[in-house]
Order: sequence, then C-alpha cells, then structure tokens
Amino acid sequence: MLHLASETEPGWAQALRPHVGELLLDHAHCEKKAASTAVNLIFRYQDIVELMAPLSALAREELAHFELVLELLVERGEPFGPRPPSPYASALYAAVRSEEPHRLLDTLLVCSLIEARSCERMRLLSEGLDDPRLVALYGGLLASEARHHTTYVDLAADRFGRPEVERRLAELAQHEARVLEEMPREPRMHSRAP
Ligand SMILES: [Fe+2]
Ligand SMILES: [Fe+2]
Repeated sequence: MLHLASETEPGWAQALRPHVGELLLDHAHCEKKAASTAVNLIFRYQDIVELMAPLSALAREELAHFELVLELLVERGEPFGPRPPSPYASALYAAVRSEEPHRLLDTLLVCSLIEARSCERMRLLSEGLDDPRLVALYGGLLASEARHHTTYVDLAADRFGRPEVERRLAELAQHEARVLEEMPREPRMHSRAP
C-alpha cells in the first residue's frame, strides 16, 4: 500500500513517449538525490542507531539504480549532466516541521511519499512507454521503490508509533497531492504531463 492521496492523471506515461531522453536524465538525478537524502539522514541522526543500517542499505540501492540509468543514458548517446532540480521535493519538504522530534517524523514520511509516487509512476511508465528497454527498466525498479516506501514508514512507526504515523502520513499525502497538481507540465518523474 502506497498511502498516496491522488492518482496520476491518465495518459501521463504515454505523453512522455517523445521525451524519454529528458525523462531518463531527470530520473538519474532522482536516484542520485534519493541516495544522498538517505546518507544525509545518517549524518544528521547518528545518535539513532536503528536508522543507520536500513538507510545505508537504501542509499546503496539508490546508487545502484543511478548506475543503471546512467548506463542506459550512455547506450542511448545522451550525456549525463547537471539539470535544475524539480520544484517537487522542495515543495514537499516545506511541510516538514522545524523542531525535533517532528522534523525527523516528517522527513521520514516525506521520503516515504516520494518513494511511493516514484513507484506509482514507474508502474505507469512500465505500462505506457513503447521502448522495450525502458519498459524493462521501470518494471524492474518499481518493486524496490515500493519497498523503500515501506522502509521509511516502518522506521517512522518504530520510533513514533503506528497511530501517529498513520495520522501524519495522511496529512502529508494530501500535501503531496496538492504539490503535484501545481507542478509545471514538463518531462520529469514528478511533474504533470508535458
Ligand atoms: Fe531508486
Ligand atoms: Fe527508492
């Protein structure tokens, strides 16, 4: 269960068919960012030993995904390089409360929602794109993103209790759905259809 408060608009994946180069570049940045977010949490919360191993494993998986996408970019002759970040993640993190321990709870749950949305969208891409290499890539990745969603929710529940996590997750999922509705129309993993 992904705990999302909205479904992606129909036809989103099909609308990306002419833009897969840009999508892949954006996706590579998303995987790199997912790894760095997990590593940053390891540095910020070194006093919470239970977070260390799960976040380290998650960061390694995200870097492996990053390498898979890089390989595909090279195969397609599309260079990897800088790209302005999507406004999606920063708009989501704006809902994170600044004082601890709320900051940790909200951060874990925002991470869980980004994983959930990525998983939903990878499933749509695996069904809606026409390039067999990309269909295979997204079909192969979506199970790990679903697992990452669960990892973040479970880490939060272990520390804050399931009822508090369910309550806050529902609020943040509403926020995520509103953020997504306001994203520009461009070929990115977490935008609206171009
Ligand atoms: Fe990933
Ligand atoms: Fe992930």
